[in-house]
Parts: sequence; structure tokens; C-alpha cells
Amino acid sequence: MDLKSQIHSLEDDIRRALSGIDTQEALERFRIDFLGKRGKLTFLVKQLGKLPKEERPEAGKAINRLKSWVEEALIQRREELKDLLHQKKLKQERVDISLPGRGVPLGREHPITLVSREITEIFVGMGFEVSEGPEVELDYYNFEALNIPKDHPARDMQDTFYVSDNVVLRTHTSPVQVRTMEKKRPPVRVITLGAVYRCDSDVTHTPMFHQVEGLLVDRGISMGDLKGILTRFVHMMFGKDIGVRFRPSFFPFTEPSAEVDIQCVICKGRGCRVCAQTGWLEILGCGMVDPTVYAFVDYDPEVYSGFAWGLGVERVAMLKYGINDLRSFFENDIRFLSQF
Ligand code: DAH
Repeated sequence: MDLKSQIHSLEDDIRRALSGIDTQEALERFRIDFLGKRGKLTFLVKQLGKLPKEERPEAGKAINRLKSWVEEALIQRREELKDLLHQKKLKQERVDISLPGRGVPLGREHPITLVSREITEIFVGMGFEVSEGPEVELDYYNFEALNIPKDHPARDMQDTFYVSDNVVLRTHTSPVQVRTMEKKRPPVRVITLGAVYRCDSDVTHTPMFHQVEGLLVDRGISMGDLKGILTRFVHMMFGKDIGVRFRPSFFPFTEPSAEVDIQCVICKGRGCRVCAQTGWLEILGCGMVDPTVYAFVDYDPEVYSGFAWGLGVERVAMLKYGINDLRSFFENDIRFLSQF
């Protein structure tokens, strides 16, 4: 085959090879195949010398044209490939922004936590400190020093979990009153929050629930102070328009004692199922600290007087949020808890 036909057939080869190339590696192989030191085109250039002198210029020109054409084609193909690969990559890495996202579930605070904090803030705002006491308590603090001796009938009011003869799960937060007064001289202005335990379980009772206890002792404290502070608390918690009443009651550790009712938040006092048609709901027990209790902590009842109260946190939360089953607080149902 003469050089001219060789050039033509090489040109055909190149065209065919070029169009089939779809990776940069294949393109590089192609370059070496044709333009490399031992490439087919380079080989043709070397053949030039064997031609008769007068044929060389024309053949040389033809080869040069072919060479520059290939070089250009190579560059062009390289660019095309780059573009192609880029498009391919973009397609692969495409993010479908119309897909719904995976949300991060947000935790909520338990309604008991929320109400506890609200109650605390109200009393702290009135100058009370917050203190704590143990849930596993000595009989002495839970009963004895609160004027409830071993054979006292008031022990029957509270179904106690006994750990041993003289250790109980506290049945109320009142023992913290005694612990506080043991450590501190008046003036005392303290609240305590926490879990209490009673062996009791039905729609309105759970074996564990929460109380807030309050105690204020100073010179010249009267029942008027008790009424003022607790009325203010109720108004801050439930709104200024809610009715409040103090009803005589009995607790061994207070004298006189009272229970505080608020106007039924459901029927606004007209009478409904929740308030048993009375129009009132009991929310706390209170009274003037009994001198017998002062004797246990060495306070002089001739100098000091004060009052105390205990309120059920679940009860306040139920009234505040309109919850009708006490047990929903402890079932950990996310659908219930996420409403607050
Ligand atoms: N400890 C009482 C109870 O659990 C509530 C109570 C009543 C607390 C009168 C007091 C109080 O501090 O003065 O039923």
C-alpha cells in the first residue's frame, strides 16, 4: 500500500477509534496508539524518508495535516469527555430536594415538671427558698416529730410503705419541715418539692405522686399571712378571677388547720361531675404550725409562730390542663406528653 492510501486508511481508523472513546483513560491510550513514539502516525512520519524526493513534500503536508487534525480532535474529545463525565457525576449526586426530610424529634418537658417549676417560681418570687429531703425517711420525721405518734389514728389516713420498723417511704413532704427547722433558726421561709409514696392505686390515686410543701416561721405570723400568701398563689396559678375558700380541717401538725378549695375550673362554680356538683375543688392542706412540733426542734412557741401547707402537684396540673385521669401522668404515652 502506498503512503497516500496508508494515510487515508489511518484517518478512517482514527475517526472510528475516536468516536468510541468514553473515558479519559481510553483517550490517553488512543493518544499513545497514534501519536506516541511508537504510534501509528509517528510510524508514517518515519516512512517519509523512504519516499522519492519529489513525493516527500506532498506526503509530508498530508501527514502534517492529519497530525494537526488528530491533535485538535484529541483536545476536543478530551473537553467533550470532561463535560460528559461532569454531567454524569451531577446526575449521580443529584439531591431530590422535594423528598420529605427526616425530622429530629424534639423532647418535651413533663407536665409535672412544668407545673412544679411554675409553683416554685411563684413562691421564690415571694422570697421562699427551695430545700430538699430524702424520699426514704425515718419514721421520726415522717410521723413522730409531726405529732403523729405510733398509735395515733392519723397514721391510718396514710397508707404507708414501710422499709423497716422505723424507716418508711415518705408519705408526704411535711418531714422536710422538721429537718429544716432542726438546721435553721427563724425566720424560715422555705418550700420543698418532691415525690411521695402511698400504698394506694385507683383512678384518683397512684402509689407515687408529687407534693410541694411550704413553711414560714417568724415573729408575729398569723392566719392572715397564711390566707394572704396562699390566696395570692392560687390567683397567680389559676388567674385572678378564680374563687378561693378556706375550709376548717384537721392535721396533727397544725392548729388550727384548713383545706383550701378553688372554684371548679371546669364549670366555674356552677356544679359539674368533676367537682361532684359542689362547684369547689380541694387543692391543698394548711394550718398554723402546732406548738408540739416546735418542741421537737426547740423553737419557742411564745416567740415564734408560722404556717405550713402541702399541695398535690398532679392535682394542680390536672386542673390547670384539664386532665381527667391521674394515671396519664405516669404512662409515658408520647401522644399525651407531647401536648404540653
Ligand atoms: N402533709 C399533708 C398531706 O400529705 C398535707 C399538709 C397539710 C401539709 C397541712 C402541711 C399542712 O404542711 O400544714 O396530706
